[in-house]
Amino acid sequence: MLKSRTRRKAERAAADGAIITIRDLHKAYRTPAGDFPALRGVDLRVNRGDFMAVVGKSGAGKSTLINCVTGIDSPDSGEIHVDGSAVHTMGEDARSRWRGENLGVVFQFFQLLPNLTLIENITIAMDFRNSYPLRERKERALHLLEQVDIAEHAYKTPGRISGGQQQRVAIARALANDPPVLVADEPTGNLDSKTAGAIFDLFEDLVYNQGKTLLMVTHDRDIQRRASRVVEMADGRIEA
Ligand SMILES: Nc1ncnc2c1ncn2[C@@H]1O[C@H](COP(=O)(O)OP(=O)(O)OP(=O)(O)O)[C@@H](O)[C@H]1O
Ligand SMILES: [Mg+2]
Repeated sequence: MLKSRTRRKAERAAADGAIITIRDLHKAYRTPAGDFPALRGVDLRVNRGDFMAVVGKSGAGKSTLINCVTGIDSPDSGEIHVDGSAVHTMGEDARSRWRGENLGVVFQFFQLLPNLTLIENITIAMDFRNSYPLRERKERALHLLEQVDIAEHAYKTPGRISGGQQQRVAIARALANDPPVLVADEPTGNLDSKTAGAIFDLFEDLVYNQGKTLLMVTHDRDIQRRASRVVEMADGRIEA
């Protein structure tokens, strides 16, 4: 245990600040009309503490890239290293386990469980991973809901709060197991601009004050002021 931790630390140091490294990533979707290449040699490096925004036109391959990084999907070839793990070498079950323990993922359509209260939506993420002692989970969930300023609604179900509030709960859920890396695919795509601004504030705080690393896909041009790095995707490649 100690040894593997030491080795992991050494590997991280050797990675020279990079927490996500993507090399020559390719992925094609099989369709009746033939293979469609969605990723055509993506190289990307995200440093620890980065707020990296990925922008680009619809169909550029942003979600495909994100889904490969989170292990929701797998590439045809290339490498994905996240915080010392070689995600591209893992099978589907291993990726799913790894994701739950190491990543916080936020989607455009919040994807909260509709029949659970907000607080239960967060404790269940800890239950899945057995990540905190049972008796601490509820208190931790409340604390996370406080952090995203929504604790007063803790015992409501998601259908009884607004979209912006639901997204804040989804962010609290992403933080449930205290992952070092957060990945978000258009987390404000379904929100009005004022609410989106508040969600960006929250992400900014997580990166700049709480040491998280964030990889975010967004169409929001406002992000360019806030992110520490912006890259543009076009036709399955990173342009700039
Ligand atoms: N399951 C699929 N089967 C076939 N083609 C797909 C599939 N998913 C995505 N594609 C195609 O792959 C390309 C990249 O899609 P992707 O969803 O990654 O784009 P995106 O940049 O996220 O776009 P958007 O901004 O609209 O979300 C698109 O041309 C899309 O039509
Ligand atoms: Mg997309």
